[in-house]
Amino acid sequence: SSYRVGVFIGSLSSKSINRKLAQALMKMGAEGVEFVEIPIKDLPLYNHDFDADYPAEGKALKDAIASVQAVLFVSPEYNRSIPGALKNAIDWASRPWGQNSFDHKPAAIIGASIGAIGTAVAQQSLRAVMAFCNARLLTSPEAYIHFTDGLVDDDGNVTNEGTKEFLQNFMEEFHEHTQRVLTVLPQD
Ligand code: FNR
Repeated sequence: SSYRVGVFIGSLSSKSINRKLAQALMKMGAEGVEFVEIPIKDLPLYNHDFDADYPAEGKALKDAIASVQAVLFVSPEYNRSIPGALKNAIDWASRPWGQNSFDHKPAAIIGASIGAIGTAVAQQSLRAVMAFCNARLLTSPEAYIHFTDGLVDDDGNVTNEGTKEFLQNFMEEFHEHTQRVLTVLPQD
């Protein structure tokens, strides 16, 4: 089946290892699956006043999510949680009240860090947030990526064979999960 996946990259850094990981993952999709990045860097800081009249940046974000059938979060861990920029984007997408963009959306979470824990703590936090947003989360396998120098080359290829197979399996499981969800909960 063919569908589109929106990719949230939790880092705004120009040298982001999570962006590199996302680029590798976007090359591992099943046939017919298209990946598009959903940008978060130009969103103002959300506040509830905006619910009365969403600004263009907020509308663009919600339109982007509405145009994909699943979402993939690729995020670093900041101080044992998710980066503020990513939480800000999720808050924007979850509102105005009653128009939560993540409702029933198939979703998966993955992240890379330079430390050994591989964003595990941040991912638990993100799972709680996305569960509340009523996304249909891939619960297993989990993917905590310890990023070493050169793990993903400039062309988005994974240089370590074991890691490559692990990531390919993760993407296959996400694909099967998405297809299962879309069978019972077709998206627009
Ligand atoms: C970090 N880093 C980090 N790593 C980690 O494993 N757990 C953590 O809690 C934190 N906290 C943290 C806070 C802040 C403000 C920064 C800038 C960094 C290190 C982090 O894993 C490393 O900088 C990654 O390179 C961040 O991912 P991107 O931005 O390269 O994708």
